[in-house]
Amino acid sequence: MNKKTTILVVDDERGVRQSFNMVLKDEYNVLLAKNGEQAVDIFIKNPVDLILLDILLPDIDGVELLQKLKEVDASTEIIMVTAVNEIQTAVKAIKMGAYEYVIKPFDVDDVLTIIHRALEKRSLIKEVNYLRSELERFNPFEKMVGKDKKMLAIFELISTISDGDGAVLIQGETGTGKELVARAIHNRSARKNQPFVVVNCAAIPSTVMESEIFGHNKGAFTGAIHTTLGKLEIANKGTVFLDDINTLDINMQGKLLRAIQEKEFERVGSNKVFKVDVRFVAASNRSLNKLISQGEFRKDLFYRLNVFPIKLPPLVDRKSDIPLLVNHFLEVYSKKTGKAPKSFSKRALNALMRYDWPGNVRELENLIERLSTVAKKPVIQLHDISSPTRSTEKIKDMKLKDAVSEFKKRYVCEVLESVDGNRKRAAEILGIHRNTLLGKLNEEF
Ligand SMILES: Nc1ncnc2c1ncn2[C@@H]1O[C@H](COP(=O)(O)OP(=O)(O)OP(=O)(O)O)[C@@H](O)[C@H]1O
Ligand SMILES: [Mg+2]
Repeated sequence: MNKKTTILVVDDERGVRQSFNMVLKDEYNVLLAKNGEQAVDIFIKNPVDLILLDILLPDIDGVELLQKLKEVDASTEIIMVTAVNEIQTAVKAIKMGAYEYVIKPFDVDDVLTIIHRALEKRSLIKEVNYLRSELERFNPFEKMVGKDKKMLAIFELISTISDGDGAVLIQGETGTGKELVARAIHNRSARKNQPFVVVNCAAIPSTVMESEIFGHNKGAFTGAIHTTLGKLEIANKGTVFLDDINTLDINMQGKLLRAIQEKEFERVGSNKVFKVDVRFVAASNRSLNKLISQGEFRKDLFYRLNVFPIKLPPLVDRKSDIPLLVNHFLEVYSKKTGKAPKSFSKRALNALMRYDWPGNVRELENLIERLSTVAKKPVIQLHDISSPTRSTEKIKDMKLKDAVSEFKKRYVCEVLESVDGNRKRAAEILGIHRNTLLGKLNEEF
């Protein structure tokens, strides 16, 4: 164990402090406090990983001290030290967040085991938090692919505006990558080590929206048992992503506008004004201009948010990115499934190119995810792809003759795919002579 790990022993009996010190000093830095006041003082001034805390102290009740210490830093593990007749209090302490309790007189090995376990838990939590933040930060720009001119211009724009503080408004159809862009902006900014907090306007009922954004004080309304921090407070120094801002009700739009303008707000049920330093990034999958003209969105809020506008084109307007996205997702899902990456037959890929993708990149991603799992062979064929994706080369607004010819072409293709290109089998299924099929193939393709 790292000698740097620090344990604070809080006990009013000198004998107990000394015996803990004896047992621990080889492995840990040991700090000693004889009462609550000293404990808090030492805890504030020193990094402490674990506290051994006597329940009976001269100046403060152990459980109360536990709460105080947890308020200073909730991540420090606390083990209560108790006499047999105080076990009920120890149990209460555990409910309040203590890790464990040991009973005096204690067995050295037992205490050391508990300490090791508590420190292990602490280091695991630290590691998870670290990995989580690394995962978030893992350059999302590289996760965002695109070489279409429109996308290259957007990547450039993201780089340019990342370091500013002005609000960003990302507009685009569902699944075009708005959230990805918002994260990219945050992760490329000076705020990248601070929180990126999502307010999902569409998913939160409007009745709790105010408390969700601004937080509330204990007792602010029925059911407000605890003081709860709002997303703005949590995001302080970082970025707030207001997703689906178009669904925010008009009343909340006004309150949000004030927070953005003044960079301050009040928790629900409180008069105290909190200052915040956050960057606002908002997203909408509907045209806000249209909503403004319908009186559903505040113009002033729109202008506040639209300092840096980003418009993500639908996938149908950047079809040249489809092969790139397909390969990207094939790789992503091969890593996830642990199988070798699959590929698409030319015809299958052509079908993806012809499709209009109303669900945009998300729809494409979902298809590749599904195919990566269910397609049995390494090369995905046209017949592996479900029909909506294939039938979008619309047989509409066509002369009957052209529509029939289009249908024949597709049908022949499908049958051929279904027999892995075996022309003899295909001709049998189609009920035509093999030579006629060859003729058709030459004429159609
Ligand atoms: N250019 C891109 N490169 C790689 N993956 C992308 C790209 N654009 C979108 N994606 C992926 O597509 C999925 C949908 O993207 P995202 O969630 O950002 O869309 P959205 O615009 O926020 O959609 P919605 O309006 O429905 O919330 C995500 O899994 C995202 O990683
Ligand atoms: Mg989204």
